[in-house]
Formats: sequence, C-alpha cells, structure tokens
Amino acid sequence: MTKVSMTVNGKTVSGDVEGRTLLSGFLRENLNLTGTHVGCDTAQCGACVVHVNGEAVKSCNMLALEADGADVGTIEGQANQDGSLNVIQQAFQDHHGLQCGFCTPGMVMSAAALLKENPRPTEAEVRKYLEGNLCRCTGYHNIVKAIMAASGQDVSSIAAE
Ligand code: FES
Ligand code: FES
Repeated sequence: MTKVSMTVNGKTVSGDVEGRTLLSGFLRENLNLTGTHVGCDTAQCGACVVHVNGEAVKSCNMLALEADGADVGTIEGQANQDGSLNVIQQAFQDHHGLQCGFCTPGMVMSAAALLKENPRPTEAEVRKYLEGNLCRCTGYHNIVKAIMAASGQDVSSIAAE
C-alpha cells in the first residue's frame, strides 16, 4: 500500500491505496464520495467524470497514485455554499435533464468543464463535448437544453422532449 494525498473539494485528504486503485475507487471507497458513479470502469460511459486540476477526467481511467498532489473536484463539491443547487444542477432540474440520474453526476461535471472553457456553447458544441458521456434514459435532448440554459442562453425556442 502507498500513501496518497490530494485536495478533494477544497479539503486535503489522504489514504493508503494499492498501485492498481483507480481514482474512482479511492473517491468512492476511501472517501465515501459515492456521487461519482461507476458505470463501466472502462472509460466509456462518463458516469465517473470528476475534475483534476480543472480538467474533466474519467476517474476510472486514472490511478489514485496519478492524482497524488492534485486538486480534485467531485459532484459533492458542486452545490453552492448554502447547499442549494448550482446553476448547472438547477438547469438540469428545470429542464428535465435527468431521469434515473445515474449519468447525471458525470454530465454535470462535464458540463461544468465545458462552460469553463466555452461559456456560451452552441448546441452542436454541447453535443460534441458530451460524446464521452452516455445516458440510457433521456435521449440527451433535455441534457443539452439544460446546459445551454445554464450558460445563460434562451432555450425557450427549443422544444421540450
Ligand atoms: S465508469 Fe468511468 S467511464 Fe464509465
Ligand atoms: S438519466 Fe438515466 S442514464 Fe442518464
């Protein structure tokens, strides 16, 4: 076992991990941050997306040891300070961007990374960015709409689905 330390949602954390321990496993099992979901463990579904040093990363595709010293953000750190939903989370709720919710943490984390680098994305840009995030329920339409609404764009002309 090797000791690993990092900042997660603004707090310094550490734990003992095996060389094969994935960042997703460290977050879920060592830190009990189970909002980071694991759908495939093979870097395909995007349910496990977190932020590592400000970049969206599939945490099942990174060893915990590789995140040693990193600044990690998870869905548990996304709400506003008063506990209310942040603008992206609220937009997902307002525009029905989720059904079962399994993909939602990864979608929100990817959306946050997208809006940081591209604050007013087009619909095509949102769809392109979400290529690595799979959703089995929604058909994506309302997820895209929610992200565009979160960016402050008028989505009233985009039909609900
Ligand atoms: S669990 Fe990481 S991409 Fe599916
Ligand atoms: S809301 Fe069920 S997988 Fe996306």
